[in-house]
Amino acid sequence: MEEKLCYVCSPYRGDVARNVKYAQELTGRAVRRGLVPITPHLYITQALDDRNPEERALGMEAGLHLLEPCECIMIGGRYGISEGMRYEIERAHKMGKNFSFADCGKLNGKDEGFLREMSRYPDMEERKQEFIHLLSFVERDGVQKLLEWLESTDFYTAPASTKYHGAYAGGLLEHSLNVFRRLVKRCPAADMDTLTIAALLHDVCKIHLYEKTEDGYRHNEQFPIGHGEKSVILILRHMPLTDEEITAISWHMGAFDSRAGAGRSLSQAWEKCPLALHLHLADMEATWFDEKRGPQE
Ligand SMILES: [Fe+2]
Ligand SMILES: [Fe+2]
Repeated sequence: MEEKLCYVCSPYRGDVARNVKYAQELTGRAVRRGLVPITPHLYITQALDDRNPEERALGMEAGLHLLEPCECIMIGGRYGISEGMRYEIERAHKMGKNFSFADCGKLNGKDEGFLREMSRYPDMEERKQEFIHLLSFVERDGVQKLLEWLESTDFYTAPASTKYHGAYAGGLLEHSLNVFRRLVKRCPAADMDTLTIAALLHDVCKIHLYEKTEDGYRHNEQFPIGHGEKSVILILRHMPLTDEEITAISWHMGAFDSRAGAGRSLSQAWEKCPLALHLHLADMEATWFDEKRGPQE
């Protein structure tokens, strides 16, 4: 057996009999997967009175010492994420532990967002390097200036929306890379610099747009000048864009753009610039197929 210590995180308080049974089940599942489980709430609770706040705090603290040598934390989500579990998960996140999920497919949005934020953090740095690498290939004056600007903003840690898709730290970065992959697939013969710029930068309008709240994010728009057109203006402050890139980024919301109903602007944009339609569709594919939830921006 490969000796991998694994901390088992599941609820205890509330329906104690049910929760103990669940902790036993998770412990068994961990052993069967070749792990060495540590499940403090199965035995510390037998020695201390969990209903006594002081003893409960002591028990939690002792249990958390056992988290330190563990390589991973297994989160049992069948009955939701309890307050005690949140505390353990936050500690595991700070210690850089690997996450393993059991029965987490039916969590509510708040618990899911929390878990995504806690578990995705470690690979955000890799995504950031991929993003910088892709943009560095672009031969255009101002690219380095633009990258310096992005570094000074919350672009790499911002969410992609308040709750619909990518609603966690790093969601915007992940979404931008997903749109890039989708767009390259859609337009394999197009100019790679243009595809890179359009996909990776289409949503820079979301920089400093979201504010963290207790249970997620809310809008806090400081520069209300539209969506796609705001991205265009922000990019132009650092780097020139071609007419095709301007049109595609400006209209990337397609029919969801509030300008779309007025006159023939959107159909003209799609007629003159097929990339605008491709970018819109790549944006939708990334949102719906790669990131699961709706297109509200
Ligand atoms: Fe957008
Ligand atoms: Fe987008």
